[in-house]
Amino acid sequence: LKSRTIFSGIQPTGIPHLGNYLGALSNWVKIQNENPQDKHIFSVVGWHALTLPQNPKELGASRRDMLAVLLAIGIDPKKSIIFHQDSNAMHTELAWILSCITPTGRLRRMTSWKTRLAQSRNANSESEVDESLLNAGLLTYPVLQAADILLYQATHVPVGEDQNQHLELCRDIADSFNRTFKGRSRMFPLPTALITPSKRILSLTDPSAKMSKSAPDPSSRILLTDSAKQIAAKVRGAVTDSISTGVSYDPDERPGTSNLLAILSACFGHEDVRLFAETCRGMSHGVLKGEVAGAVEDLIAGPRAEFERLKGDVGYLDQVAREGAEAARELSARTMVQVRERIGL
Ligand code: ADP
Ligand code: NA
Repeated sequence: LKSRTIFSGIQPTGIPHLGNYLGALSNWVKIQNENPQDKHIFSVVGWHALTLPQNPKELGASRRDMLAVLLAIGIDPKKSIIFHQDSNAMHTELAWILSCITPTGRLRRMTSWKTRLAQSRNANSESEVDESLLNAGLLTYPVLQAADILLYQATHVPVGEDQNQHLELCRDIADSFNRTFKGRSRMFPLPTALITPSKRILSLTDPSAKMSKSAPDPSSRILLTDSAKQIAAKVRGAVTDSISTGVSYDPDERPGTSNLLAILSACFGHEDVRLFAETCRGMSHGVLKGEVAGAVEDLIAGPRAEFERLKGDVGYLDQVAREGAEAARELSARTMVQVRERIGL
């Protein structure tokens, strides 16, 4: 089996919620542990967070917290390179070089950019879009993402379906570089998505939307640091429906109930929600909520305790960050020597 290089990043924007964990982060740990022959690189991508306004007084703490969370859930510095993107300036160097071979039209077609444009239109309550409200980083961050991946010549990237368009762009940029700057061999592998079996977790209070860190109602999401009591209260308050014949899995007609079943199924590690839901058929909402609260507590109790312990061990966190950054810089330096040679600078 040929060894693969796997890269993924997460922004330091607060403690992850259950959706982040079940939909993305838990999969990183699984990939790390099930494929010891591969190279694993996980990054806390602080520069990406700057595309939205951040409080400088909080960003540093969020940055350290995210590193602690990754360690607490089982990312192991002995098995993976784990580091802060902003500790390796080669990310921005490569991003600049790649931005100079990326057509702006390609970036304007990204769904993420179009969403921002639409939001700026609403804010002005005018039909005209006002790009003066949008910083250039919002347009170009997919190029920085491509640099994050290509800097390590990653072959595989665990992404949710919502990120697939960005990975396609990354492949196009890599291909464009390979063609424009030919050498003895192809400079960049074209990375493949490791699509995680979609575990889209919905908001507890508005099951028409996904669970999100930016929703105004904090009871809509469970954080990995929530206590058993907080978890139970949030689950108890979850919106379901008034069908009284017991629970069943029907995402269209019963989104809230189905979301609780999906959470329970994911907590137990089942791949097939429908199959699992059959075993709960007819259960009352009250009993289901009790089961969900218990399963979520069982799932996060370990990581939560480890996070609290790690937060107090600043020396260890700094050491992991320092060693991770050194390993990341060493790998990326090899890429940049070749990149600079090819572009002639
Ligand atoms: P948020 O939507 O809360 O801002 P991010 O956009 O920072 O979360 O997403 C970080 C990662 O978590 C991404 O890989 C994303 O696909 C995943 N993710 C976010 N929300 C959910 C959710 N509700 N269910 C499943 N996965 C999610
Ligand atoms: Na988001």
